[in-house]
Amino acid sequence: MKEKTKIKSVAVLCSGGDSPGMNCAIRAVVRTAVANDLDVYGIQRGYAGLLEGNVKKMDASSVGNILQHGGTILQTSRCPEFHEEEIRKEAAHILKRKGIDALVVIGGNGSFNGAWSLHEEHGVSVVGIPGTIDNDIEGTDYSIGFDTAVQTAVEAVDKIRDTAHSHDRTFIVEVMGRKSPAIALHVGLCTGAENIILPTTEDIDFDQIVSDIKRGISRGKGSSIIIAAEGEKEGLSHRIKEVLKDKYSIDSHTCILGHIQRGGNPTAHDRFLASQMGYIAVASLINGEVATVAAQRNGKVLSVPFKECLGKKFDTDPQFIDIVKTLSI
Ligand code: F6P
Repeated sequence: MKEKTKIKSVAVLCSGGDSPGMNCAIRAVVRTAVANDLDVYGIQRGYAGLLEGNVKKMDASSVGNILQHGGTILQTSRCPEFHEEEIRKEAAHILKRKGIDALVVIGGNGSFNGAWSLHEEHGVSVVGIPGTIDNDIEGTDYSIGFDTAVQTAVEAVDKIRDTAHSHDRTFIVEVMGRKSPAIALHVGLCTGAENIILPTTEDIDFDQIVSDIKRGISRGKGSSIIIAAEGEKEGLSHRIKEVLKDKYSIDSHTCILGHIQRGGNPTAHDRFLASQMGYIAVASLINGEVATVAAQRNGKVLSVPFKECLGKKFDTDPQFIDIVKTLSI
């Protein structure tokens, strides 16, 4: 790495929903900083912890034996107050008072927007590391935790398929994603789901769902799996179950996978990604950059302008949906 250090210290925090692999990213940030003679601090519980001054010095040993564990040793939080400019001003003051020159934020869209405002309004040097199981951050192909969440959900649906097949049953499996279709699409394709319902689907085409179920039955297939992204309104899978019963006399079962998708040991893919992102994040600060994201593009982790990663990605490639439909006939 080049010797162009302009900063002397860096702090790292996790923000928003946790995601498996965050610990790998923390480890990579801390060790890269230590290796380059920077002081490194961990901020507990995200922006909320920063506002409380919950900041601790870290060293190489602080991050020993953590990379394989889910969750985050720094803990995380959602901090709605950070939408207020006055609050961000206070956060910038705290960083200054503690002698912290730059902030690494591991999180999703809301967290990135908070970091960007901190930079724009108060000149704080910031680096984002994409960390959300939703994989919905613009400007990066993947975010840390998505692969693990998909793997966890796929393993669960495989088990549901076993029993669904044994009993000739239809299951509605609800996966995470209030606004993001990514988990539902990947899990749907990887489990041979007969139908996928996305967070944007306003009018569910029940006639189509039922016709798909009946077509399967007519060729001897007994089980059917509908993957539904949870969406913004709680209870989606139960509403689908009711309509299938009341309007079409089809019995079905529901299963909400919920927060198990956010926990567990990160997959090798997430560890691989998070370790590189943590390293690149600190390297970009050492190279004098002041507002970047360690993103993955075309298989490579690189430093990109923060501004390119502020939007929300809602990727529903029609070809992808067509593949799911074609393969599950
Ligand atoms: O972190 C992303 C996510 O897990 C979404 O998939 C989900 O909709 C949301 O967070 C749930 O958030 P919470 O745990 O705060 O209810």
